[in-house]
Amino acid sequence: MTRGALLKKIAKETMGDDFAARIWKRVEFIGDIALIRTPLDMDPFDLRPLAEELIKRIPYVKSVWAAIPGVKGEYRIREHVWLAGEERSVTIYKEHGCSFKVDITRAYISPSLNYEHIRVARLVSQNETIVNMFAGVGLFSIIIAKHAKPFRVYSIDINPHAYQLMVENIKLNKVENTVIPLLGDAKEIVEKHLLNTADRVLMPYPELALSYLIYALRSLKSGRGWIHVYLHVFTERGEHWRNKARLILEGKLRELNISNYEIRMIRKIRNVGPRTHQVVLDVYIG
Ligand SMILES: C[S@@+](CC[C@H](N)C(=O)[O-])C[C@H]1O[C@@H](n2cnc3c(N)ncnc32)[C@H](O)[C@@H]1O
Repeated sequence: MTRGALLKKIAKETMGDDFAARIWKRVEFIGDIALIRTPLDMDPFDLRPLAEELIKRIPYVKSVWAAIPGVKGEYRIREHVWLAGEERSVTIYKEHGCSFKVDITRAYISPSLNYEHIRVARLVSQNETIVNMFAGVGLFSIIIAKHAKPFRVYSIDINPHAYQLMVENIKLNKVENTVIPLLGDAKEIVEKHLLNTADRVLMPYPELALSYLIYALRSLKSGRGWIHVYLHVFTERGEHWRNKARLILEGKLRELNISNYEIRMIRKIRNVGPRTHQVVLDVYIG
């Protein structure tokens, strides 16, 4: 039985058909932690019977937490409530042959970027210098270092907990020679240390991608290279997310007086709300 089918079965047997239909897609597995994204109209503690069944019936699940809707603050962390099993928020999460120590309550982590991490890694050429402006606990940076042959990956995050975990993850995956962790505001770090440096810049934080685009441009070596811009795109009825994303980025580039660019790829990662799409654009400048 697939994990999805098992989840559906457990949810149905514990809390009935209607509930199962709503909940089974809301369970994420991060290492040995199961995380239930609580529906807006539900009290997270009502999820306890399901959490206890998950502990009893799925042997690799050791701890179950509820995430309260809405990612908060500049560190992009959701609020969490512990429901069952070990009261532990730290685990080892694996992706693409790399291991990451994560703490679901202190630093951003989302399995929904799984494919995106390897997609970008496959685009990297030998000896590239990369700036990852919003690195979290280091997933893009470390997966790139392991799967491609970059010269350096400068890996920035402003959250001290994410930075500390990133430092540990760099050692855990033995990429100390390639990935350089940096704690602080990406804007300040670029201005102080990374001007005219990068062949490729990653901006995986939709809330700041447009206002920090100028710093991504400044960090490109000789003003040429790739920028991966992540956006949240809201579409009105009749609008397509792809066109809207393109228009938003083109508008911003025009405002910054940049005309020598080509948007080579636009991809939707997921829905993040009603008619709101998380989209990535790969743009080549130069
Ligand atoms: C969506 S998460 C990044 C996810 C990560 N790249 C991954 O693949 O798992 C955004 C990150 O940006 C960080 N952040 C927010 N504002 C920042 C800033 N001004 N400078 C650097 N990092 C920032 C947050 O702490 C958070 O870890």
